Amino acid sequence: MDGDRQDRPDATLLGDTPERSYGDKLERYERFLEPELRGIIAALEIAPGARILDAGCGVGLVTRWLAEVAGRTGSVVGLDLSHGHIEAAERLNGTRELPLRYMQGDLTATIFGPGTFDLVWTYNTINHLDEPVAALETLAATVVSGGRVVLIQDLLLPEMIFAWDERLEQAVVQACRAYYRDKYGLSHRQITDQRNIYGWMLQAGFEQVAVKTVVSERVQPLSQTDIDYFQHSVFEGHWGDRVRDYLDAADWQALQALTDPESDDYALARPDFHAIQTSTVAIGTM
Ligand SMILES: C[S@@+](CC[C@H](N)C(=O)[O-])C[C@H]1O[C@@H](n2cnc3c(N)ncnc32)[C@H](O)[C@@H]1O
Repeated sequence: MDGDRQDRPDATLLGDTPERSYGDKLERYERFLEPELRGIIAALEIAPGARILDAGCGVGLVTRWLAEVAGRTGSVVGLDLSHGHIEAAERLNGTRELPLRYMQGDLTATIFGPGTFDLVWTYNTINHLDEPVAALETLAATVVSGGRVVLIQDLLLPEMIFAWDERLEQAVVQACRAYYRDKYGLSHRQITDQRNIYGWMLQAGFEQVAVKTVVSERVQPLSQTDIDYFQHSVFEGHWGDRVRDYLDAADWQALQALTDPESDDYALARPDFHAIQTSTVAIGTM
């Protein structure tokens, strides 16, 4: 994966460009959280026939779940900046049976006219942008009067991947944050800016904003989807080689013992493995 901003001054805050692609990672993540995301969609009580935009749709699995709810009389568009993500979305999701289409484009540009959609869904995307409030204003302008913008950001609360040593946990969290600060040239403030999603919605002009945090929890027996996510995305991704230089040698070794499938201390083999993380949903009504 590329995306360092130093190489592409035109990239978004978190390094996205039309050429950048990290579809495998997005697919693993969407599949891991499928039960909770389908639950969030069900709670929206979307009417059949709804016109929906998924702004920053990634590889588009969630877009398809939205389309399943909108039904054959609905119409759903998945929009993403990345050509690679749009190609993956088209490949992964049969778009023939459902009124669902994917298109490459920039959600911060005015692509759709006023009142085009009944609902705009944007998930783990607004935090990638330099001007999140302006982007929400642009999206809000595409929603019909009485329609909704649904903004979701994960991990606003610190996740617990398993019960472990508090000091080592803090060291790993700090290492991950330092890695991101360096990679994207972010300040300490910018790293946690997404916690302000409620404020962003108010600043974008929504007078009614409902917020709710949904908790995802996993214990044994873990499904293969869960194992793929924890092993590849968390252990080898977030906590992989890239954070090695931000940890001292003893902490790196301790982390390896917990995350290496060959180790006696391997976390995913523990009968008491217990992981918790959050998805925070902010719903603004026009
Ligand atoms: C973390 S991913 C989330 C994708 C998807 N919502 C999901 O949950 O899997 C952020 C996505 O936003 C897209 N993106 C970033 N800036 C964008 C922009 N200005 N317009 C449209 N999409 C954008 C990226 O290409 C990427 O697919």
